[in-house]
Amino acid sequence: MSSIDLPVHESLHIGPIRIPNRVILAPMSGVSDLPFRRLAQRFGAGLVVSEMVASRQMLLDTKQSKQRMRFDRDAGPVCIQLAGTEPDIMADAARLSADRGADIIDINFGCPAKKIVRKASGSALMRDVPLATEIMKAVIGAVDVPVTVKMRTGWDAASRNAPELAKIAESLGAQMITVHGRTRCQFYTGVADWEFIAAVKDAVSVRLVANGDIRSIDDAYGCLRSSGADAVMIGRAAQGKPWFPGDVAHHFQTGQQRPEPDVAQRWAILREHLDEMFSLYGVSTGIRNARKHVGWYLTGLPGAAEFRNVINNTLDPAVVTAEISRFRDLSLETA
Ligand SMILES: Cc1cc2nc3c(=O)[nH]c(=O)nc-3n(C[C@H](O)[C@H](O)[C@H](O)COP(=O)(O)O)c2cc1C
Repeated sequence: MSSIDLPVHESLHIGPIRIPNRVILAPMSGVSDLPFRRLAQRFGAGLVVSEMVASRQMLLDTKQSKQRMRFDRDAGPVCIQLAGTEPDIMADAARLSADRGADIIDINFGCPAKKIVRKASGSALMRDVPLATEIMKAVIGAVDVPVTVKMRTGWDAASRNAPELAKIAESLGAQMITVHGRTRCQFYTGVADWEFIAAVKDAVSVRLVANGDIRSIDDAYGCLRSSGADAVMIGRAAQGKPWFPGDVAHHFQTGQQRPEPDVAQRWAILREHLDEMFSLYGVSTGIRNARKHVGWYLTGLPGAAEFRNVINNTLDPAVVTAEISRFRDLSLETA
């Protein structure tokens, strides 16, 4: 599994920013908020990327954009992802992000969601290369910190232009490119085409990150082998398992598999995650936002269905806390 002709154990530099390993937590709107990123980083993800922040909203300082912009300076490099469609607005948002402490600005050319694409943002920019170019020029010109770009392989099977767009990004000064190995029209169907990512790697010499469908340590090595990428980015496989990117990083660095958290540790991590969500969002929004995480964490644990049912029907943090203790004890007895 670990024999691979790439320096997977080494750190990575994005411009002057040192990333301690080659595993990145993917930006996931509604999932990779500050509490989740903090956990992933503590468990060893080399870099964590914010949820995408709409540039216009950031300039208006909306509540959501403020929450999405929250970061933990002490935990490691800060990467803020921007979405948008107007070069000037995106440049202003990049400037503001850098002023507030972002070490890296990532531009989103990958989001497939209809409401984003309708505004000609996210992956829609892969079929408007002139506008994508203007955006990259404006953002890269606006800040001194490194700018990176995240894209899909293209809009659809007939227009997989990631190699061309990546070349343009590199020529404009982008310092790293991430490719999710699907087209926009695939959304999340089919499988990520890691081999196509190799065509992007061949087209550029900046750092290339491969993304899509990495669910195990074996997958991470397989993805690097097929794509020749410099690093991997992991999204959905970290849901309910914020330690997973760190597990991959640990294997890259040592060749050893570290033990998964046991049942008691998983409950403790969930408890910490929920507490952080309550303090970021307030209790009732925190509980609502936490429900999906609870579902992911507890998959396969004894008592999970009943616990989920309780969480889905309360907005009282005292009930949540008491139920966590009760179900933790129950699952420890039966584990
Ligand atoms: C719930 C969810 C939200 C996402 N939000 C973003 C986002 O804000 N910005 C972005 O570039 N990609 C976003 N993505 C895409 C992921 O970053 C990643 O490219 C994709 O999930 C494929 O990687 P995976 O197979 O490891 O999950 C999102 C994906 C999911 C599942």
